[in-house]
Amino acid sequence: MSIIAVVGNKGGTGKTTLALNLATGLGRSGDAVIIIDADPQQSAYQWRLTGADDNGVPAVVAAAIGLDKTVRALVAAHAHVVIDCPPSIKAPQAEQALRLAQIALVPVQPSPMDLWATTHIARVIEQLRPDNPRLAAHIVMSQLEPRTTLSRLMPEAAAELDLPVARTGIRRRSIHRHCALDGRSVYQAGKRGAEAAAEIDDLIAEIIPHDRP
Ligand SMILES: Nc1ncnc2c1ncn2[C@@H]1O[C@H](COP(=O)(O)OP(=O)(O)O)[C@@H](O)[C@H]1O
Ligand SMILES: [Mg+2]
Repeated sequence: MSIIAVVGNKGGTGKTTLALNLATGLGRSGDAVIIIDADPQQSAYQWRLTGADDNGVPAVVAAAIGLDKTVRALVAAHAHVVIDCPPSIKAPQAEQALRLAQIALVPVQPSPMDLWATTHIARVIEQLRPDNPRLAAHIVMSQLEPRTTLSRLMPEAAAELDLPVARTGIRRRSIHRHCALDGRSVYQAGKRGAEAAAEIDDLIAEIIPHDRP
């Protein structure tokens, strides 16, 4: 069982995109997965409404109000609960999600300003640590463009931050936007989505603890 909060302090970094694709990837093993949309803007909820019912993207429950209760009600029946948070670490939903989660993912775009903004997130996570000592938080480099110098330098710069950086980064690929248009994940995009989906699989393998027999 895992509760994964996708959080950040900015809009447009890729939280909703990561939450939807991560949840879809987690569900491919047959595990019960649910997405909780904790953002009052309801992008994840809208995304799911746009898609076909049986397209493999897990169900999305909108819970910007009553997040705590919703998570507690759903956690027993699901192997993974993925919470998509509003674009502010000060939002009460983000704080609640960080109290409930075992894993926090912080997508960060390859720009110095975005990296600096994560200092504040690390501080909030540390403040909550006494209430949630087992929370494992990772920065996930998002919308990377490997051919640019900035993207190449970012992992190094991010290493200076107070939060660990996941080895797996998410590249900027137009298939992510195409998929959002019709409510799919990159797993439903056939060959065109294969590389993007493999990246999500790598992230899952990296961040989800595997019980050893
Ligand atoms: N890896 C990616 N490659 C290309 N476009 C992306 C990627 N991740 C997100 N996007 C696009 O960037 C925009 C913001 O993403 P979104 O997931 O809504 O961010 P947030 O939830 O942090 O506000 C959307 O148009 C989305 O389609
Ligand atoms: Mg969002």
